[in-house]
Amino acid sequence: MMYPGEPPVENGLIPYLGCALQFGANPLEFLRSQQRKHGHIFTCKIAGQYVHFLCDPFSYHSVIRQGRHLDWTKFHFAASVKAFGHESMDPSDGYTTENLHQTFLKTLQGEALPSLIETMMENLQSVMLQSSTLSVSSTEWETDGIFAFCYKVMFESGYLTLFGKELGAHEDKGLARQEAQKALVLNALENFKEFDKIFPALVAGLPIHVFKSGHSARENLAKTLLHENLSKRKNISDLISLRMLLNDTLSTFNDLSKARTHVALLWASQANTLPAAFWTLFYTIRSPEALRAATEEVNRILDSTGQRANPNGPHLTLTREQLDNMPVLDSIIKEAMRLSSASLNIRVAKQDFLLHLDNKESYHIRRDDVIALYPQLLHFDPEIYEDPLTYKYDRYLDENRQEKTAFYKNGRKLRYYYMPFGSGVTKCPGRFFAVHEIKQFLSLLLSYFEMELLDSDVKVPPLDQSRTGLGILQPTYDVNFRYRLKAQ
Ligand code: HEM
Repeated sequence: MMYPGEPPVENGLIPYLGCALQFGANPLEFLRSQQRKHGHIFTCKIAGQYVHFLCDPFSYHSVIRQGRHLDWTKFHFAASVKAFGHESMDPSDGYTTENLHQTFLKTLQGEALPSLIETMMENLQSVMLQSSTLSVSSTEWETDGIFAFCYKVMFESGYLTLFGKELGAHEDKGLARQEAQKALVLNALENFKEFDKIFPALVAGLPIHVFKSGHSARENLAKTLLHENLSKRKNISDLISLRMLLNDTLSTFNDLSKARTHVALLWASQANTLPAAFWTLFYTIRSPEALRAATEEVNRILDSTGQRANPNGPHLTLTREQLDNMPVLDSIIKEAMRLSSASLNIRVAKQDFLLHLDNKESYHIRRDDVIALYPQLLHFDPEIYEDPLTYKYDRYLDENRQEKTAFYKNGRKLRYYYMPFGSGVTKCPGRFFAVHEIKQFLSLLLSYFEMELLDSDVKVPPLDQSRTGLGILQPTYDVNFRYRLKAQ
């Protein structure tokens, strides 16, 4: 029952499930229609839980700045346990005293970033040019799906960057090991894809044992990430080596639980990055202007550092500063993510409190209620982004071709207009690395390869809505392209 001063409630048609089916079928349309009916905030009953959707971007701040009334840990820790099956990482449950959030910030940002970027750059080039992942040639075109291509190249490079290489894997005498190493990563990719399929269902609360192959995929991933196996690898990232140390010193997790916490990080590091790489590459190849502008920018950076792409020569290097100085690629990636991101930002009320909106209205929120922001409402708002369904590679460039940050609604400048990485305390700690690795991927492809769509008029594949709420959505089908090494 609704009390005076509470947001208007939409109960939906079906008891318990409430609005879940309508929301699930087309979240954007559903929320837009509720917004037209009720205004800036309304409550939907979704699978037994009251969720308040706050739709006014000028009021986002009151949720994002994380007042004492709102909690994020409960929801996040619980979701992670449901999906990955480790013991609780919430210190208040008593299995660990680690401050995970701090660990992420320390090992993914600031001083930790340059070495991650450097390793990724090396790995990307080994995977693209030296390993047998791709069959590259300068005379023959190779045809592949863009999605399949991005998954292969980015997963292997990202996996090796986080979890290192097997000892001896790249020494000459270790050829057999190199093969074993390759098989391990390919297996991990297959298991990752299988597990990723059931991820939405696990977060929604379904038990993993009903999914036979998804379940065994997760356990296979965990087995390869047991500490006894990781300790045989070298060049493990700070992120994983610090997590191993803290697992061993501050937690009472058993070995399998420790390994499952690494599966969680493998998933976090890949599940959004891979589709984001797909959309970036797809839209870049599909738009002649984007392709031209991106190629020019990459050439400018390489020229300024006296480097030339040569598949048989030394690997290219791009420093963090150089990568930070690529506004065209930034805009290309942002625009691809604007069109494909569908994350939900969730907070839980710790106690009854009054939520103040920008228009001076206040609403009573009850303890344990969920407040959700759905940034796709912003990303697809025609007032903020003219012609919102169209890919415009330079949308985030200003008149000086530098990063554009001025976006308006009702004539007012917006503070929040682009949120694929979430907001406030739960903002993705890997976001700088994520954007850098996609930039590296694109820069290298543009430097070494010629690429074209098989069908230059190909339609944009629809987004797979079944993953709404979880981040960057995948396309419902793959799109073919062909590539070959540029002539020297
Ligand atoms: C959390 C998006 C890449 C590590 C998140 C969240 C979002 C997000 C929206 C917050 C979820 C929430 O509010 O519940 C993305 C996107 C990426 C990306 C769009 C790529 C395009 C990465 C990468 C890494 C990473 C490459 C690590 C190498 C994490 C971690 C968390 C997280 C550890 C959990 C943080 C916490 O709970 O404290 N990501 N992410 N992400 N992301 Fe990312």
